[in-house]
Amino acid sequence: MKKIHASISAVGSYLPEQTLSNSDLEKMVDTNDEWITIRTGIKERRILKKGLGVSFMAINAAKSIIEKKKVNPLDIDMVIVATITPDMHATATAAYVASEIGANNAFGYDLSAACSGFLFGMSTASAFIESGRYKKILLIGADKMSSIVDYSDRNTCIIFGDGAGAVLLEPNLEGLGVQDEYLRSDGIGRDFLRIESGGSQMPTSLETVKNKKHFIYQDGKNVFKHAVSNMADASEEIMKRNNLTNFDVNYLIAHQANKRIIDATANRMGIVDKKVLMNIERYGNTTAATIPLILSDYESKLKKNDKIIFAAFGAGFTWGAMYLKWGYNS
Ligand code: UT7
Repeated sequence: MKKIHASISAVGSYLPEQTLSNSDLEKMVDTNDEWITIRTGIKERRILKKGLGVSFMAINAAKSIIEKKKVNPLDIDMVIVATITPDMHATATAAYVASEIGANNAFGYDLSAACSGFLFGMSTASAFIESGRYKKILLIGADKMSSIVDYSDRNTCIIFGDGAGAVLLEPNLEGLGVQDEYLRSDGIGRDFLRIESGGSQMPTSLETVKNKKHFIYQDGKNVFKHAVSNMADASEEIMKRNNLTNFDVNYLIAHQANKRIIDATANRMGIVDKKVLMNIERYGNTTAATIPLILSDYESKLKKNDKIIFAAFGAGFTWGAMYLKWGYNS
């Protein structure tokens, strides 16, 4: 019997209309367009309206796949939403998304691995598909970072943005789809990038709100250092394990946190600029959404059999790389 691979068969996305440019940020914190552009590669980000939860973007990203690919929502087996900004605690955003898109035969849950959430979700979804247990899995990476960013903190507000990207994963018998993964985590890193309050360790109180503990905090320098070395190591390892040279790899799709981190990873892999897909300039760091947003933006460029390396690093720490053979021509 032929081995089942989990292949991406469709991609979709949703981005809010409102933009927050570097010049807008200049009016909010002590920063400037030149610094942000040189240090991060970001020019603008998207911001979702107040009052709307991350599910709004996730539902729209999912619907774009359903409409484009003419999927019957009742055929979807499972919905995974990778996010660190769920609509609410205690209930999975994925369950709501599944109901809202009419995936009434599916079960859904959220996956929390910050900027590596989409890659970890690919691992989960592909394992279910490879096992033969499920045939259509909707994996959505979505974050409303504006709901946890302190817009008076220049260490974080210049980086993050809102957005959602989605993929449909299905069985493939031609050997296309997910080939290999190298995923890791190190909980010692959790103090460098975190929201301190609102969880069981430090429940929300007047005091925590007064001290801005409900906002995301990052020790940028430390995170940067770990991101560069771990993303590059993981990507190199996955190439070595699969006997891939830099010529064999068609594209590097890396988490969009900082252009300098992506460039450093590509350099270590020996991957030339034109094979490094980026959209950080327009959306900033949308956490779990960056990788599927790249897939959505560059879908028409991707060809059946293209060899793609994915790489990510995020809070936790969590990180890793995946090797995938693209499944279709659009
Ligand atoms: O998504 C996964 C997790 N996140 C990441 O991967 C992000 C990783 N970190 C980063 O991308 C970078 O560390 C930042 C973009 C956050 C900061 O860049 P950096 O090159 O690490 O800057 P820095 O914190 O070392 O600061 C360098 C200088 C400092 O000034 P002095 O001490 O050299 O005079 C800062 O005060 O730049 C100053 N600075 C700023 N200036 C203008 C720091 N932030 C800003 C700012 N605007 N926003």
